[in-house]
Amino acid sequence: MSQSLQFMGLVSALESPEFRLLEVRGGNNQPKISVESLHGEEYSGLFRIYRKSGEPPHVADTSEVIDALSSYFAQGYEQAICYTERGHITYTRTPKGIRIKSEQPSQEEQGKEQHKVDVKYLLESQRTRSMLTELGILTTEGAIRREQYNKLIQIKNFLNIISEILPELRELSHINIVDGACGKSYLSFVLYYFLHEEWRIDARFTCIDTNKTLIRRCQQIRDSLSYEQMEFLDTAVKDFPSGQRVDMLYSLHGCDTASDEAIAAGVRLNSKIILVVPCCHFELRSQLHRHPLKGLTKYGLLEERFAALLTDALRALALEAAGYDTSALRFVMDDISPKNTLLRAIKRSSSPNPQATQQYLELRRMFGVSPTIERLLPDIFKKSELA
Ligand SMILES: C[S@@+](CC[C@H](N)C(=O)[O-])C[C@H]1O[C@@H](n2cnc3c(N)ncnc32)[C@H](O)[C@@H]1O
Repeated sequence: MSQSLQFMGLVSALESPEFRLLEVRGGNNQPKISVESLHGEEYSGLFRIYRKSGEPPHVADTSEVIDALSSYFAQGYEQAICYTERGHITYTRTPKGIRIKSEQPSQEEQGKEQHKVDVKYLLESQRTRSMLTELGILTTEGAIRREQYNKLIQIKNFLNIISEILPELRELSHINIVDGACGKSYLSFVLYYFLHEEWRIDARFTCIDTNKTLIRRCQQIRDSLSYEQMEFLDTAVKDFPSGQRVDMLYSLHGCDTASDEAIAAGVRLNSKIILVVPCCHFELRSQLHRHPLKGLTKYGLLEERFAALLTDALRALALEAAGYDTSALRFVMDDISPKNTLLRAIKRSSSPNPQATQQYLELRRMFGVSPTIERLLPDIFKKSELA
């Protein structure tokens, strides 16, 4: 049977603007394979194929995707699901050939998808395009700047994480958002647009950064977009004044201990949601001198990675200790940014969690380190426990 008959409907689904994702799944612990379309005029009609096993992704056109799919099925993969905005098509390998089943999205899927953003969607509206141009992500001709493509993917993924978590705040008539270490505030400007103009949610933003020049630039962009419910403060996150209700605090790639400042500010201000993607983990690396697992930190690169892992594990435990349900997620693929651990924390309890505090203390004692997060949360880590 020809490939186009075997995978009937797939070529038109891949080439339609409604295409979202093709996922190939196997048994026997075969890593999942994802196929996503690339964006930007120069990438039109091209797809990125990657296996969740860590090997580098490769770029393919439609017919190469179909060839690749045939070869995956020949290697023992069992199912491919092509998701589009109008539903999904499932191709399942059976002894008699490929079985094809088309389905409309379920009501639950439609609910989940309601706020889902993809890059095409981001670029659809003239408002977002002019904002992304103002932010320097698009050229004045409207093309994605090559060096900014990864930033766009980060914004898209962050928006989707926020859209999934927003129901946690459904009781509120308006939400107060803090962006710690906002830089050029790409994320907050785009989120403002989606919250106010697409999702119709009243949200007020406070964006903080120590870089005065960037803060002034953000204020200019805010004025040119007339985004009145955004304020910008040139201060360190740790000095952000309390006294106002904060519902969601996020910090994307705050340098080194700025992520600790963000976590601590979120805890101190009792923010329902805290989302932090840490960056450049310098602090603990310089403290890893005496500990029982020397082999782990003998080699420079591994020491750097281990310091990052230890720092983020301690941060996650600190959040748990403060009563947050915490998870660590991969935020973007490694080739988009190697700094791709997202700590997602939702406040579930007003009392501290002593088991998490204990785990935190054991871990930091084992490695003989003294992390900033602990000093910034003195009420969680009582002095008596730190001895
Ligand atoms: C890598 S940039 C990230 C900017 C932005 N969040 C993004 O993802 O595009 C890090 C930013 O953190 C800011 N920063 C560093 N330490 C800070 C602190 N303690 N408080 C506030 N901002 C800080 C820097 O000025 C810089 O703009």
